[in-house]
Amino acid sequence: MTNVTIIGAQWGDEGKGKVVDWLASRADIVVRFQGGHNAGHTLVVGNETYKLSLLPSGLVRGKLGIIGNGVVIDPVALLAEIDRVTAQGLLVSPETLRIADNAILILPLHAAIDSAREAARGERKIGTTGRGIGPAYEDKVARRAIRVCDLAEPETLAAKLDELLLHHNTLLAGLGAPIFNKQDLLASLLALAPRILPYAEPVWERLAIAKRAGERILFEGAQAVMLDVDHGTYPFVTSSNTVAGTAASGSGVGPGTVGRVLGIAKAYCTRVGSGPFPTELHDETGRLLGERGHEFGTVTGRKRRCGWFDAALVRQAVKVGGIDGIALTKLDVLDGFAELKIGVGYLINGKSYKHLPAGMAAQAAAMPIYETLEGWSGSTRGARTWADLPAQAIKYVKHIEELIEAPVTLLSTSPERDDTILMQDPFAD
Ligand code: GDP
Ligand code: IMO
Ligand code: MG
Repeated sequence: MTNVTIIGAQWGDEGKGKVVDWLASRADIVVRFQGGHNAGHTLVVGNETYKLSLLPSGLVRGKLGIIGNGVVIDPVALLAEIDRVTAQGLLVSPETLRIADNAILILPLHAAIDSAREAARGERKIGTTGRGIGPAYEDKVARRAIRVCDLAEPETLAAKLDELLLHHNTLLAGLGAPIFNKQDLLASLLALAPRILPYAEPVWERLAIAKRAGERILFEGAQAVMLDVDHGTYPFVTSSNTVAGTAASGSGVGPGTVGRVLGIAKAYCTRVGSGPFPTELHDETGRLLGERGHEFGTVTGRKRRCGWFDAALVRQAVKVGGIDGIALTKLDVLDGFAELKIGVGYLINGKSYKHLPAGMAAQAAAMPIYETLEGWSGSTRGARTWADLPAQAIKYVKHIEELIEAPVTLLSTSPERDDTILMQDPFAD
């Protein structure tokens, strides 16, 4: 048996939460390794809907959840999320959740800078979630970030806040935004410490022990390859690496522990925020996809932009993300369309491409090259076996497999946990 890593293969919201929840029944530990509460993962179990941002989705199955060092943690948001899911009946305690002591903290000033900078960008804004993700990762690489372990060292915390505020208050003042007071920040962090520290530990050690004991680890990615800070549609990306390799550096294990990589892709495509989206539809079909797929952001409630499946984009995500197989979700949303289009490449300034080039102007100018397929009249909604699918739906999936140069190993046919078809168990050797 191998470990499994789940990553998004488009621009996020592919249904990672549902797939992680479903696969978590076969895992012992679920680990988040990058991103923060910009993520929104929705899990539907019977009549209950769980919306998770920072907590690993395996908690719903009662599996040990680990938040790795690669995650940026807003302690206030984390505690609020714990309270919220506890009220829904989940058990979150230091026995079920462990947090890397070397993970970075998001402070209120990060969200303030995020919003002030977006406002200053005007028309050219990235459309961030406004949660301070980018500024927190900037502080990490600038070597001035506050980490979870600093909560246990009041003197370290006070000295680090001096350096942090020198930098950020200058910036905030320049942007015309209110500045932060050191004593207030220090007092609020010290007040949070007793609730956060019981969860903190060197999680790399626990993961090493789990590995030796043969336990199965499921790494849960957030965001997606096209939002990766290196490989995505830069600068319209998030501030972390979202590719599978990050599961190792973001949790403190070796690259061999990442195991099999399952990329999640919708049977069409969506994006929230600004940036290029070659197969985006601004017409009635786009509106219909959004309506049928309930395409509203889990975190910000923003309407998601919708378009056809872009096989060239997913093929690229497969290669750079290290994806071994694809879980194709929301196939049911395509039920009833007379015809379906699939993007197979791009036309940019009269030249054709099989991939999306890196240049910002080239990406903005990319026009999709489409293949048209016949739709299906039957329903795929709730299908749990391959045999339940209309022949034309099978043809659509098979054609996608060819175009993206990777097998589709799992299909999802509704938001509900068990409406899933497994073709190949990712944990199997
Ligand atoms: P994530 O960020 O990748 O975890 O995805 P989100 O949870 O933000 O968005 C996916 C949405 O699609 C959620 O509302 C899910 O409940 C829903 N969903 C997941 N899989 C399916 C599916 O196969 N069919 C339908 N109709 N909805 C799905
Ligand atoms: P999940 O895990 C979809 C997008 C934002 C914005 C860009 C940068 O639910 O798939 P950030 O706040 O990260 O600096 O914003 O990235 N974004 C997401 N889009 N799903 C997500 O997470 C996202 N997390 C960030 O909309 O365009
Ligand atoms: Mg989401």
